[in-house]
Amino acid sequence: QTITAIVPAAGVGSRMQHSAPKQYIELAGKTILEHTLSKLAELNELNTIKVAISDDDGYFADLPHIDKRIERVSGGKERADSVLNALLSLADNPPDWVLVHDAARPLVCLADIQRLMTECIAANEGGILASKVKDTIKRGHTHSEQTVPRDDLWQALTPQFFPYQALTNALSSALKNGVTITDEASAIEWAKQPVKLVAGRSDNIKITTPEDLDLAAFLLQKQQN
Ligand code: CTP
Ligand code: MG
Repeated sequence: QTITAIVPAAGVGSRMQHSAPKQYIELAGKTILEHTLSKLAELNELNTIKVAISDDDGYFADLPHIDKRIERVSGGKERADSVLNALLSLADNPPDWVLVHDAARPLVCLADIQRLMTECIAANEGGILASKVKDTIKRGHTHSEQTVPRDDLWQALTPQFFPYQALTNALSSALKNGVTITDEASAIEWAKQPVKLVAGRSDNIKITTPEDLDLAAFLLQKQQN
């Protein structure tokens, strides 16, 4: 079973309101993108690590060398376009599986990634890391109209792990059909293919707004000890 990692890292980080894209913010000694790539580089089962980088990115080329399996590919307008570009760049020598992981999630733990891959390969089904919703969830606009039962609600995390061909087909047709795609699983669901939910640690946060930075720095430091 050949496995290639895809790391979407072509966003501008508008919600972070920082001068550089958020993946280049330095936390606990190195940039968020370096933390993420160093973690994936510990997985010997990956044959290649494709990183989607914007064509006007002025930072990636200056990062220190991390691993010889890392290759740059052009990002696209939306996250899904970046992932599809990376998938299409693999078409000549397609892997069996792809592991898609946000650059903005440097806190993922290796044990969770291993479990996701093992369980999906054993079941021969794609799947995602996800964590059960913990808060009481309200529906409403200015006032709460309803408390939503949360027993079957999950927060989708990454990595998301799918057969190469199934994901490439699902993502290309979903995008052609104008379907809103926020993660790989949403394209697979739209294509009526299975998405296994594999419970992962909820501290695998996507660094998104300024208030995420202190928590992420603290957790990264803790992981390094
Ligand atoms: N991403 C990408 N290509 C895009 C948009 C996003 O590769 N056109 C990547 C981001 O770099 C990030 C991941 O997808 O690692 C998750 O996206 P998100 O957290 O939304 O990052 P941004 O789009 O950069 O942030 P924002 O939405 O606040 O602008
Ligand atoms: Mg975004």
